[in-house]
Amino acid sequence: MEISHAKGSYIYDTNGKAHLDFVAGVSACSLGHSHPRVVKAIQEQTERYMHVMVYGEYIQQPAVSLAKLLADHLPPPLETTYLVNSGTEAIEGALKLARRATGRAEILYANLAYHGSTMGALSVMGFEERKEAFKPLLPKCRAIIFNCETCLKQISTNTAAVILETIQGGAGFIVPTNNYLAKVKARCKEMGALLILDEIQPGFGRTGKLFGFMNYGVIPDIVVMGKGMGGGLPIGAFTASKTLMDLLQEKPKLGHITTFGGNPVIAAAALATLQEITETSLMQDALRKEVLFRSLLTHNAIKEIRGTGLMLALIFETSAIANDLVLRCKDKNLILFWLLFEPRAVRITPPLTISEEEIIEGCAILTQVLNEV
Ligand SMILES: Cc1ncc(COP(=O)(O)O)c(C=O)c1O
Repeated sequence: MEISHAKGSYIYDTNGKAHLDFVAGVSACSLGHSHPRVVKAIQEQTERYMHVMVYGEYIQQPAVSLAKLLADHLPPPLETTYLVNSGTEAIEGALKLARRATGRAEILYANLAYHGSTMGALSVMGFEERKEAFKPLLPKCRAIIFNCETCLKQISTNTAAVILETIQGGAGFIVPTNNYLAKVKARCKEMGALLILDEIQPGFGRTGKLFGFMNYGVIPDIVVMGKGMGGGLPIGAFTASKTLMDLLQEKPKLGHITTFGGNPVIAAAALATLQEITETSLMQDALRKEVLFRSLLTHNAIKEIRGTGLMLALIFETSAIANDLVLRCKDKNLILFWLLFEPRAVRITPPLTISEEEIIEGCAILTQVLNEV
């Protein structure tokens, strides 16, 4: 499909067809397409200045305001944010910070985890087949099983960090159960290891709270964000306490360097996005919309609906049904998508701004197609 333009919950192709978007650029277009507040912020910033210097050399207000607003909305001690260009770069920064802070090398990650595609992020991907062609990767990275309490014994005084997605995305929208994250954090604390939570997908309101971890009574040492943060522009960030983040400044000097991180136009878009999410009822609405989705998607082919808020995955008996559904809905102008490591799943991650009428419209198409597959 060739894109003509996109607005709100719809993507328009060059044949003039409107496609209802239940995917939001894989959770990236949190406010839908070309949200007016984001567009205005971008336009105003491009009139003032765009790139002027590598990140950190000059004070650039959009990045400063963004980092400050994030700190206002994050629990202490998560107060210092390093802005980068993508989710995967933010993961690299977080892994480097954990190594630098602890002087240890071992990183534990979860089975079926996805944290990005650069070499560090790939080293902590929990899907061995996809790593094979790129080995050797980072040493001392080991998998544990998500939601397994006995596996936490593997966190030791050799461990620099445990990295987890708050809600496992590629694995099939697996939520933490039985106070798992708090137990991971407690064991990390006991062993002097850091807990890194990857909020790149659940973050920015998708689960009804600004960050997914806020649903689970835990505060990570480092939180990693991206995707929906930029309102449709590319960004990533990692946030930690000032004490921790300051360690990246010395030994070596400038422990992470990025030319475009903190770019003023992107930061202005992210600031407008964060303001819109935190100043409106979008987060509470996400939970109401989840209820609506669940009430409409009761077809007996759907074996389970996983996830929370507007991060939902329909689970089918076979991958063939999931595959057919995505492709046939595309023909009926409803955009759905797959998950990386769970072939029986279909993702529903619409813009947070989707209306109830649009949800009803899309679910009717989905149900009609399920009757045919
Ligand atoms: C949980 C998670 N972490 C990291 C990433 C990587 O982010 P990016 O594609 O911006 O590098 C993704 C992207 O899909 C993701 O879903």
